[in-house]
Amino acid sequence: MSITEIRPDIRYVGVNDRTTTRFEGLWPLPQGVSYNSYLVVGERIALVDTVEERFGSRLVENIRCEIGDRAIDYLVINHMEPDHSSSIAALRRLYPSMRIVGNAKTLQMVEGFYGLADHTLTVADGDVLDLGGLTLRFHLTPMVHWPETMVTWCPERRVLFSGDAFGTFGALDGGITDSELDPDRYWDEMRRYYAAIVGKYGAPVQKALSKLAGLPIETICPTHGPVWQREAARVVDLYDRMSRYEGEPGVVVAYGSMYGNTERAAERIARTLAAEGVGPIRVYNLSYAEPSEVLRDIFRFDTLVVGGPTYNGALFPPVRQLLDLIAARGIPRRRFAWFGSFTWAGASARLLGEFAGQMKWECVCEAVEMKQGATDDDCRRCDALARALAAHIKQAAR
Ligand code: FEO
Repeated sequence: MSITEIRPDIRYVGVNDRTTTRFEGLWPLPQGVSYNSYLVVGERIALVDTVEERFGSRLVENIRCEIGDRAIDYLVINHMEPDHSSSIAALRRLYPSMRIVGNAKTLQMVEGFYGLADHTLTVADGDVLDLGGLTLRFHLTPMVHWPETMVTWCPERRVLFSGDAFGTFGALDGGITDSELDPDRYWDEMRRYYAAIVGKYGAPVQKALSKLAGLPIETICPTHGPVWQREAARVVDLYDRMSRYEGEPGVVVAYGSMYGNTERAAERIARTLAAEGVGPIRVYNLSYAEPSEVLRDIFRFDTLVVGGPTYNGALFPPVRQLLDLIAARGIPRRRFAWFGSFTWAGASARLLGEFAGQMKWECVCEAVEMKQGATDDDCRRCDALARALAAHIKQAAR
């Protein structure tokens, strides 16, 4: 079996992108990203998803390597976000008789984005496409990550083409399947990808997982990152926990600070938590930290401590930005503590408390509010906050 043949008659033809610096123009890609595309070769040939258009010629090169001058009969579109769909128009020019396969919402977007409305095949939930020797069955999974998203199941090979679900940032380091590369390189990036891109859609992801639970999946072919075989169960479990917003034991301390006074409080709280034996602890200065890394760890851990100064009578902007990212994703059930500071009129501590109330988070200790410099008394109150929080964490773990 060649390295591109994931299962008999199923070939990888995707591409790596190690030059784009920000995914969706927002999220950094320190390890790059892959846009995955797959050929299913029966008596008729289907291509499942395409790649970002700047890499379209590489996709075509990869297709030609696999099937030479044979035509593609069907292009199955699981997801229309342009990182996967923007090569559709070029492929249609190359393969004019190719039928574009998608559900009604998908095909409306194909026309809306690319002006293509003919040679299409509309499929509904559960429909089957017979390729001759292999079949593809379509399962609609709306809002994982857009309304039109669906997954495609090949029962003869027990392969699920899962769209963005089970995807991760990180280009493919040589191999394609998880036994051909080091999967440990991807776990953190999978969490960050989920938190940044899919994190708002926990309920639809849960619905999709229930819908797919009966399938005897042996291979997961997502649109980003490795093809999962050996680690497929771990990947499904991780997505299940992330989409339930389940936090594991650990604390994120995220703070803003203009001149270092609020930072002293953050450091003091983190140090006291560590001295109390609580952990792991991740500390982020929000003026410098990458938001998607902070979000990743807030998805991961069950306890969050946030602090920041009052700025123009409101929250310090980097702190406000973090709260907006959290609110947009509706992250529930976090244990929360907070601290704030001001010079002449306090607002940040009050606003952080109000935010926790809106999120219905569990607030287990009294907030610390500091005026101007961090005094010895302020430091003692930070110690008390951390000790009370640690006691609660230990009590909950019993
Ligand atoms: Fe990778 Fe939602 O697109």
